[in-house]
Amino acid sequence: MRSLVSRGDCRRGGALLSAPGPLGDPAMPNRPRPLVAGNWKMNGLRRSLRVLGEIEQGYTPGLKAKADLLLCPPATLVLTAAHVLVGSGIAVGGQDCHAKEAGAFTGDVSAEMLADAGATFAIVGHSERRQYHGEKDAEVCAKAAAAHRAGLAAIVCVGETQGEREAGRTLNVVRRQLRGSIPEASCPANLVVAYEPVWAIGTGLTPTAADVAEVHALIRDELRRIVGKAEAASVRILYGGSVKPSNAKELLAVENVDGALVGGASLVAADFLGIAGAYLV
Ligand code: PGA
Repeated sequence: MRSLVSRGDCRRGGALLSAPGPLGDPAMPNRPRPLVAGNWKMNGLRRSLRVLGEIEQGYTPGLKAKADLLLCPPATLVLTAAHVLVGSGIAVGGQDCHAKEAGAFTGDVSAEMLADAGATFAIVGHSERRQYHGEKDAEVCAKAAAAHRAGLAAIVCVGETQGEREAGRTLNVVRRQLRGSIPEASCPANLVVAYEPVWAIGTGLTPTAADVAEVHALIRDELRRIVGKAEAASVRILYGGSVKPSNAKELLAVENVDGALVGGASLVAADFLGIAGAYLV
């Protein structure tokens, strides 16, 4: 039962960052503090870490006042990235985690290992995991619960395929994914939801602002049922899929969009900062 979870448990996830909600922009008291997260996917060698230094340099006090930043490099770089970014206020996360704490699971990385390496977030249920590794909602839910167990905040990804959108099934698909993928014991400090239409990822295509608004409103509504009315307002809901500096302002201004999950554009410091910079006005 959700009520058995202490606030202390909930506050552990994403500890590097300020708590969302009350600490958001005083000009927008009802919106959680925005989060701009970068997902490097299977890109990046040690030399790529200089991008982190460039992002740190561009994370000016003005931007710090407006938005949290998070970078999720491949697992091989999480430890070093966390060292590079120590004291910067920029968080580091993993791109996936195994549901179990340890064991005979060759090639997998547990949430505890990510936490031990300095991560405070883990992306789970990314559509590339769902597509190429056959991950279903129940597994995604177990992975999110593992993230919580390790003290990480889980970024739970949902989104429809092109076929599902064309068949008019977007809202049903997203609702089903949310109900199946978000564990009990979720709260604003340990849960972020990312809406990523599969057809918009890496394609340069984006939904209209109205389409984004419709899905994000549904997600907020579902969160009211899942984490409770009061808490739902403070859970960050990110939009992801072909976010670029040129479209960030429009997408991030949509109601119930509390940040972005950025793939390709997070590999270039100027692009990532250009997206986060949408919050500067
Ligand atoms: P993209 O990827 O920004 O390259 O479209 C987004 C994501 O997959 O998180």
